Amino acid sequence: MNMPLDPSVATPLSDLVSPPAGSPMWQRNFLFGAGTSSYQIEGAAHEDGRLESIWDRFCNTPGKVLRGENGDVACDHYHRFEEDLDLLQRMGVDAYRFSIAWPRVMDEAGRPNARGIDFYKRLIDGLHRRGMKAFVTLYHWDLPQHLEERGGWLSREIAYRFADYAELMSRELSGGVAAWTTHNEPWCSAYLGYGDGHHAPGHKNVRWAAQAMHHLLLGHGLALPALRANEPKALVGLVANCAPGYAATDSASDRDAAHLFETFQNTWVLDPLFKGEYPKDLWRLWKGAEPLVLAGDMDKIAQPMDYLGINYYSRALLRSPEADKFEWVRDPAVERTSMDWEVYPQGLQDLFEKLHRDYPNLPALYVTENGMSSHDSVQDGEVDDRQRQAYLKAHFAACTRAMQNGVKVDGYFIWSLLDNFEWAFGYERRFGLVHVDFETQKRTLKKSALAYSDFLGRRIG
Ligand code: FCB
Repeated sequence: MNMPLDPSVATPLSDLVSPPAGSPMWQRNFLFGAGTSSYQIEGAAHEDGRLESIWDRFCNTPGKVLRGENGDVACDHYHRFEEDLDLLQRMGVDAYRFSIAWPRVMDEAGRPNARGIDFYKRLIDGLHRRGMKAFVTLYHWDLPQHLEERGGWLSREIAYRFADYAELMSRELSGGVAAWTTHNEPWCSAYLGYGDGHHAPGHKNVRWAAQAMHHLLLGHGLALPALRANEPKALVGLVANCAPGYAATDSASDRDAAHLFETFQNTWVLDPLFKGEYPKDLWRLWKGAEPLVLAGDMDKIAQPMDYLGINYYSRALLRSPEADKFEWVRDPAVERTSMDWEVYPQGLQDLFEKLHRDYPNLPALYVTENGMSSHDSVQDGEVDDRQRQAYLKAHFAACTRAMQNGVKVDGYFIWSLLDNFEWAFGYERRFGLVHVDFETQKRTLKKSALAYSDFLGRRIG
């Protein structure tokens, strides 16, 4: 006699990635997805009126990106998005997180570019036809170059241009978006873009980084009312890349180094949003770098949000080389990915529980990015990415523990749907659930994607 199937029972395939039995992540109301961003996948850099972005300019500046690669073609998603939506559907995700390329949708005078906007309308329609939700990021780093020439995020005016862009897109896409994200990782835009120069536009001045951060956050605050007015049913939030800092020894100075790291990496973004102020200890690291803040700015920045997205990849281990400084320590015992990032799932639980303790007004959390890069290749039509399978399983378990200890987490997006253009590292670092052959544009679901799909189909409720 055939026994009725219990859908929540893991098979050998789903067990490669699935959360522990009894985890709230097995419930169907916990949202699962995969993510990408415009510059990393779209290609079609010169089509349908798209303007140059700071990343086009940066990539074409010798020495900035590994092997001089760029996003001109990337995954050619602009032309192949239907095929990519089919992959998402085949995986069985609930939602897709992607970003809009600002240079595609507005001209230099700030007028709408209908052809560019139409691409995102077709993308969202395609998602809905397949029963998936759209999580849309407005700014995943591809600032129009002409705005950089007006000062970029150093200029207060850009925060207002960003709010205009948010207003336009939320009006054009009204009714189609489940969740808006203003910024993806303002820390990267501000620090890597203006402080250490590893990202576009490549400036190296921490005073500028602090000012750019302020204008990014102000832009977020200015955009919120328009997003809420144009799309009242959508969630509105911001995505931050956070990492817990651990002291290498128990000395007071190393503990202070860990605190300073978290100030720099986490609270620089989160304190303004949830406390309406910059963390004072940041200015111990960067003396005299306080940004110019005008009356009323912090109230705009600290308006309530519906959710906070956290991109979690790894932790930091720290020591103090001298007062008011921190230095990374390398732990040779810990497993690493091909980015040379530590695999440290416990950090996700520790981080979430700390955010929950530190911010009484913390909204629901989403893991908006988690995943890893590895040297994946197709062998006999298959990609057996074992390290990624184990990575996802361990991080799902860590998220489960945080939820069981009272942290509200509503969803989880794997970074990334596709192998793609990994910024200054070009195409060498493969983060995808789906392998992309960049010569032929052939997509192959890695074993992690097949396991994820099997798990998603077995959820309860
Ligand atoms: C994050 C970015 C994302 C991707 C991953 C690996 O910082 O948001 O675009 O590059 O890292």
